[in-house]
Amino acid sequence: MKRPITSPLIPLFATLLLFVNCKTRPAAPTGLVTEKAMVVSAREEASKIGVEIMKKGGNAFDAMVATEMALVVAYPFAGNLGGGGFMVYRKADGDVGALDYREKAPLAAHRDMYLDSLGNVIPEMSTKGATAVGVPGTVAGIIEVHKKFGSLPLEEIFAPVIALAENGIVVTENQARRFKGVRDKILEVNGDSTTFPIDSKVNDVVKYPALARTMGQIAQKGRDGFYKGEVAKKLADFIQAKGGFITEEDLARYEAKWRQPIIFNYKDLRIISMSPPSSGGVTMNQIFKMIEPYDIGSFGHNSEKAIQLFTEAARRAYADRNYYLGDPDFTDIPLDILLGQEYITQRMADFSFEAATRSSDVREGSIAMAESMETTHYSIVDAEGNAVSVTTTLNGAYGSKLYCDELGFFLNNEMDDFSAKAGVPNMFGLIGAEANSIAPEKRMLSSMTPTIVEKGGQLWMVVGTPGGSTIITAVAQTILNGYEFNMSMQEAVNAPRFHHQWLPDVVIFEPEGFSQELKNNLKAKGYNINEERTPIIGKVDAIRVMADGRLEGGADKRGDDTAVGF
Ligand code: GLY
Repeated sequence: MKRPITSPLIPLFATLLLFVNCKTRPAAPTGLVTEKAMVVSAREEASKIGVEIMKKGGNAFDAMVATEMALVVAYPFAGNLGGGGFMVYRKADGDVGALDYREKAPLAAHRDMYLDSLGNVIPEMSTKGATAVGVPGTVAGIIEVHKKFGSLPLEEIFAPVIALAENGIVVTENQARRFKGVRDKILEVNGDSTTFPIDSKVNDVVKYPALARTMGQIAQKGRDGFYKGEVAKKLADFIQAKGGFITEEDLARYEAKWRQPIIFNYKDLRIISMSPPSSGGVTMNQIFKMIEPYDIGSFGHNSEKAIQLFTEAARRAYADRNYYLGDPDFTDIPLDILLGQEYITQRMADFSFEAATRSSDVREGSIAMAESMETTHYSIVDAEGNAVSVTTTLNGAYGSKLYCDELGFFLNNEMDDFSAKAGVPNMFGLIGAEANSIAPEKRMLSSMTPTIVEKGGQLWMVVGTPGGSTIITAVAQTILNGYEFNMSMQEAVNAPRFHHQWLPDVVIFEPEGFSQELKNNLKAKGYNINEERTPIIGKVDAIRVMADGRLEGGADKRGDDTAVGF
C-alpha cells in the first residue's frame, strides 16, 4: 500500500499558497450584492427611486436624474435644486466623460466683494444668507444629462420624486439630530415664519408641497421650468429681497458644461475622475503617482509607513491644488506639468520615512485651499453596464441656510469656495490663491471627486464621497483599500480614514481605528496629530463590479446611506 506523502514542507507550502491567494484572490463581498443594477446614496428613498426607474427600463442616466431629485426631498442637508455638482460617467462601451454643473458667480460679482474698506474679509458674508449664493447649476445638469443620454420621458422620471415630496419622508435619527443642530441658524436667516420643518422629530413624516410644485414645472418644461419664467422670477426676486446678487439674467445664462475628465493609470488600474473646476481628479492623480513607486500594499493597511507615504504625497499635492487650480475657462492651469512624471518625481525627492516634511517647507511646486463637509455622493450601475458617479452639494449643511418657502428648497453658499482674499483660509481651512479669485460668471474651485475605476480594462469601481477638502483623500483611500489592501467594497468604505491637506499642517485621524502607539510614533517623527477633534472623514458610497459581473455595494456606515439593487 502506498503511504501518503507527508513532508514538513507541506504546511509551509500551504501557508505560502494561502498567503499568495489572499493577496491575489478578490475579497469576498460583505455589502449588498445584486445581479444587475444598483444605486448607493445617502438615503434609502433616493436609492429606491433610482432603482425603480431602472426597473421600468430606464438607464443609469435616467436613474441619475431620479436619484438626484429624490435627494432634494429626502436629504435637504445636501441634496439640492439650489446648488450644483459634477458627474463622471462610463458607458457600457467604455466611452467616458464628465459634466460640470458647478454653481458660478453672478454677473454682479467682483474680486473684492467679500472685503471691507480695509481689505479684510467680512465674516459670514460668503457663508450665510443671500450674499453667499452662487448661481445654481443642478437643474441644468440633470436636464443636460437627460437630453444627451436619457431614455425615459422626464415626466415619468419625476413622477415618483414628486409623489415622495407630496406624500412625505420619514425623519431618521440622523436627520432629526441635524435639524436640531442647525435650527437656530435657519431661524436666524429665515425668521420664525419659515416653512422648513425644522422642529421635526424622529419618525415624523414631513411633506414638501412647494417643492413638489417646483419639480412639476421642471418635469414639464425642462430647464426653462427653473431658469426662465415664473420659477426664475420668484427665485431672483427672493434672493435680491434678502440682499443677494442673483438676477433673472444670471439664471437664464447658466449652462452646464461637458468636460474632459482627468484620466490616469495607477499600476493596472485606469482611474477616471473629475477635472477642473474641481480639484479632485488632478490632486488625486498627483497623490497616486507620488505613491506608485512604493509597494504600499506590503506596508499594511493604515500602518505607520502607509500613513507617512500617503500624507507626504497629499501634502505636496494639496500645496499645488491651492495655488494652481481654478475655473479652467478663466485660469491657465499647467496640467501637463503638474501631472507629468518628471515633476511628480521631483516633488517627492525630499520624502523620507525618517521624519515628516514640514508644510512650511513645502510651497506650490516651482511652477495653497477650502470647502465644506456637507455634500453628498451617489453611485449607479445599470443592467447594461453603464456607470454614473455623481457628487452634488449646497456647500455648507443646508447651504447658506436661506430657504425659499414659495419654491421649497435651500440655496447654496458656494461663493465661499472662491478665495475671497489670497492667503486667508475659507470655512474648511483651505487657503486659496489668484487662480481661484472671484470674477463674474466664474466657477469656484471644488474638491468633489466623483470617480470611476477600470481594472484590466473593465468597469471595477464607482466611488465618491462628501467631505469638503477631505473628499480627495477619502476617495483615494477607498480605492487603495480595495486594490492594495484587498478589501471588499463595504469593508473599503467602512475602514477608518485619515487626512492631510498641507495647511493646516496636521494629520487628522477618525476616532476609531488608530492606536495611541501609532500616533505617538508619528509624533516622534514630527507629524502634528489632531488630538482633540476627531471628526468623521467622508461618507463614501460606492459600487464594485466583481469578477463574475455581480455588483457589491459599499454604503457608508457613518450615515443613513443605503445600497439598493436588483
Ligand atoms: N463645496 C464642496 C466642494 O465643492 O468641494
